Amino acid sequence: MKTTLYNNITDIPAVACLLQQGQVVAVPTETVYGLAANALDSRAVEKIFAAKNRPADNPLIVHIAKWEELPPLVSEIPASAKALAQAFWPGPLTMVLPRSEKIPDIVTAGGNTVAIRMPAHPVAKAIIEAAGVPLAAPSANRSGSPSPTTAAHVMTDMEGIIPAVFDGGASQVGVESTVISLVGPRPRLLRPGGITPEQLEQVVGEIDIDPSITANVHLERVSSPGMKYKHYAPKAKVTLLHGSQPAFVDFMNHQAEADAVALCFHEEAHQITKPVLCIGHAEDHGEIAHNLFSLLRQADQQQITRIYAHCPERRGIGLAIYNRLIRAAAFDERELDQE
Ligand code: TXA
Ligand code: MG
Repeated sequence: MKTTLYNNITDIPAVACLLQQGQVVAVPTETVYGLAANALDSRAVEKIFAAKNRPADNPLIVHIAKWEELPPLVSEIPASAKALAQAFWPGPLTMVLPRSEKIPDIVTAGGNTVAIRMPAHPVAKAIIEAAGVPLAAPSANRSGSPSPTTAAHVMTDMEGIIPAVFDGGASQVGVESTVISLVGPRPRLLRPGGITPEQLEQVVGEIDIDPSITANVHLERVSSPGMKYKHYAPKAKVTLLHGSQPAFVDFMNHQAEADAVALCFHEEAHQITKPVLCIGHAEDHGEIAHNLFSLLRQADQQQITRIYAHCPERRGIGLAIYNRLIRAAAFDERELDQE
């Protein structure tokens, strides 16, 4: 299959037409690129699972452009959903709600809830509106690789597999949306992302944090099935290190293997005598999130086989960065200052 790369807003009708015909198209969003299809057409959604090689038990997020599109897709809208939408939609927040009959089983992996998000990227919004249907869209990577944050990343994974990719520039946030479940007695964070736990709590009060976010979950049933897979993994063996900048520099220079590469902060990069991939300034979590997946893909391209990643503080969007990094590291993490 030939994959056409679009990049002009005048191409949006052509992309919308493909979606209406039941095809799968990669679209830019502010978090990461999505692999979109008509969420109400189960045949079209099947093609997403095939293109990604995604396990059928991992449900998809349904993307809408306007609040009015929500009620038909869900069986109930709790007050917390209204408040969160008012605060954070359009934007990097996904809400898990009780589903309606309209959502095909394949989208929810047979469950009785559906995940909904209203993206902020103008191209995503325009494509949903032009298609005139809600779009089911997981991240546009093949299962197991880092989520794509540029159209070039999508082409690497999907060229020849899907008919079209729309290039809307680099995704600004760089990590996937925050997923919060609103079906239980208390809001529950299932995946940290662009909207931080602190921001959520300002709107809905105290939230529960699902244990799968920071722990290695091997359970058959977890609240967010995606969390149980080894995700975002580069080909290199990755170890996540916690500790001060001097301790990290010392480790890289004196203990790391000769072929190791540091995934490190701007402030410490010049002191490290081994090759580095600079992830951003230590305190600028937005910058680190923006660069993270791109650097993991770059590591693969450079055929790096050993990476030590310096973990940023786990507050704010740092929790999302930690959540992605421990998966890239297959849960191999160490505390440096105590050695
Ligand atoms: O930022 C994003 O969310 C991107 C862009 C394209 O919107 N999408 C994305 O989709 O990251 P995906 O499929 O890669 O991740 C969706 C996550 C998975 O962990 C999945 O298990 C969870 O959301 N999820 C989807 N539906 C759910 C549901 N009904 N209940 C619980 N978790 C759900
Ligand atoms: Mg994904």
